[in-house]
Amino acid sequence: MTNGQERVPYLDALCEYAARRPARLHVPGHKGGPGADPGLLAALGPQALALDIPALTYGIDVGVDPSPFEQAQRLAAQAWGAARAWFLVNGASQGNLAAGLALAHCGSEVVVQRNAHSSTIDALVLSGLRPTFAAPELDPELGIAHCLTAEALERALAAAPRAVAAWVVSPTYFGAVADVAALAAVAHAHGIPLVVDEAWGAHLAFHEELPAHALASGADLVISSTHKIVGSLTQSAMLHLGHSAGDLIGADVVDRAVTLTESTSPNALLCGSLDAARRQAAVHGRELLSENIAALARARREIRAIDGLDVLDERLAGRPGVFAYDPLRLAVDVRGVRTSGYELAPLLREIDDINLELYGQNVLVAVFGMGERSLPEAARLVRALRVAAERVGVDPGGAGTSFAAAPPWGELAMTPREAFLGAQEVVPAARAVGRIAAESLATYPPGIPNVLPGERLTEETLAYVQSTLELGGVVRGASDRLLRTVRVVTEA
Ligand SMILES: Cc1ncc(COP(=O)(O)O)c(C=O)c1O
Repeated sequence: MTNGQERVPYLDALCEYAARRPARLHVPGHKGGPGADPGLLAALGPQALALDIPALTYGIDVGVDPSPFEQAQRLAAQAWGAARAWFLVNGASQGNLAAGLALAHCGSEVVVQRNAHSSTIDALVLSGLRPTFAAPELDPELGIAHCLTAEALERALAAAPRAVAAWVVSPTYFGAVADVAALAAVAHAHGIPLVVDEAWGAHLAFHEELPAHALASGADLVISSTHKIVGSLTQSAMLHLGHSAGDLIGADVVDRAVTLTESTSPNALLCGSLDAARRQAAVHGRELLSENIAALARARREIRAIDGLDVLDERLAGRPGVFAYDPLRLAVDVRGVRTSGYELAPLLREIDDINLELYGQNVLVAVFGMGERSLPEAARLVRALRVAAERVGVDPGGAGTSFAAAPPWGELAMTPREAFLGAQEVVPAARAVGRIAAESLATYPPGIPNVLPGERLTEETLAYVQSTLELGGVVRGASDRLLRTVRVVTEA
């Protein structure tokens, strides 16, 4: 790709400023290194501290039109095919919060895919939007939630005629990709924008063998967690406005929502890393991803050959809610061995210091980055899995059991914001059944809320969260991390 994509105007401007040795009569107090703890200087290296330059520095973010910062965001918009791109310093979580606040400018109701990330639910709390939840397809064999189908979105929109947007997730944690073009067509037929949380899909734009990315498929606002796979620093992400957004969502409205959810001191290293990751993806992405795709195909073949193990792969495509499969996620199905993912994960650490992105009862998920060449780590994972599977042995009946599915969600009795901010009390978990939750309960893995503020708590869901904790998982959002108590709404 040409069009200046080999340039990194913002990163270059930071480097030039640091090299000039200017009088730094501004924050941060470490003054580019001299004021820092020597241990920090040694750990990060002097250049990292020298580049820690505040926003609104002349020649970097202001004083030149367009500033290097603006140029960097324009190059990012061009690389992903967006009308406009915003650099985010609080992750894709900030992208979701900003999306919610932008949508709240258009009305008070929204259709949301129920297995959204917890930051989408946080966005409902902040924005006050009333959600109508659309059910994703549940895989009867695997027991995991995939994407939303166009038919399910159509049904949800028919039930929520005042919705101002449809908000979906693609790809999922497990690599399922939605038919975004069909979802966009449904949303547009209702005169509303399609917002896609593509946190896991920033790389999709850079290789023709990968599933089509959301902006290319007609999405209007896309949340992208650039750090997850494309290689910017942790916490850096982007928000993209589609060319088709037109009158559906205004750039000015998104802009104020991004500003509202952001520190007034965005970190230059994070933004510089976004500029560089964009260049890497636009200029070398295709070549790097080709290597990833080939190495992971080999790893999948090798894992499938291990007794008791299987993988999720493109065989999923075509099932309801799975339009395509993203091969950069390596999800290992461990139902066929005589132990759970919770026990295998520490075993892999013990065998060869293998540290996974996510593990649950029946699945292990390894994430690979776009810049990793030929993936020696994939071979290392395969070797360790071989040893682990041999140690624990095969469970002949296990491969037929389904993944532990979360129970259905409870009835929404009030908006997430009303429940989160209203009168509330803390009760023992056993007495919380039938009460309205004032907090989210999202079991990790995979961080998809089982309970939202505003929903009635059911016995099944509380038991599911409790058993995930007992098995070694964690729960996010709960005021009591051990779930002995739950924060509920005080009902008159
Ligand atoms: C679907 C989805 N959206 C948003 C996020 C939040 O991303 P970040 O950690 O960059 O804030 C995640 C994180 O895992 C996610 O899986």
